[in-house]
Amino acid sequence: MNEDNPSLISELLTDENYIVLVEDILKNEEFKKLKTIEHHGTSRLNHSIKVSYYSHKICKILGLDHISTARAGLLHDFFLSDNERSKTERIISIFTHPKKALKKSLEQFDLNDKEKNIIESHMFPINIILPEYIESWIVSTVDKIIGLYEFLEKYSLKQLHVPNIYLLLLIKIFS
Ligand SMILES: [Fe+2]
Ligand SMILES: [Fe+2]
Repeated sequence: MNEDNPSLISELLTDENYIVLVEDILKNEEFKKLKTIEHHGTSRLNHSIKVSYYSHKICKILGLDHISTARAGLLHDFFLSDNERSKTERIISIFTHPKKALKKSLEQFDLNDKEKNIIESHMFPINIILPEYIESWIVSTVDKIIGLYEFLEKYSLKQLHVPNIYLLLLIKIFS
């Protein structure tokens, strides 16, 4: 598994204003298991931190609910899976994992309606559950940009910088 610029993750985790919102999740023993699960060439934990952090930043700039966004963004892919899954299992998981993540999150944490919708709808339009809140749209979009970046990085195509440009553009438009 690619270690995925650990300095970036460490840097994000120095933001005290962010940490205070998600500390209980990061310390949860079940959630910590995401560290060993491969996800787009990085760990599912690192992927989730990036999606959560950048989504919450955008929401903060826009004066939206950055707390629910930080928490649900972190939980959006909270499901355990085998690193040796077959291709078929991985394809099925594209459609089924938002429901699994919601179930797993509810087993460990109390969630409000917005947090539930953020998790359940993050794969829209692949998954037909509609994002009902602007925060849900933001997490879903940021997840796709981060996912694309990780995918390019996995295949050493990061010099394209395409997702970075989209992310900067998104932050620029909203700021
Ligand atoms: Fe996902
Ligand atoms: Fe994701």
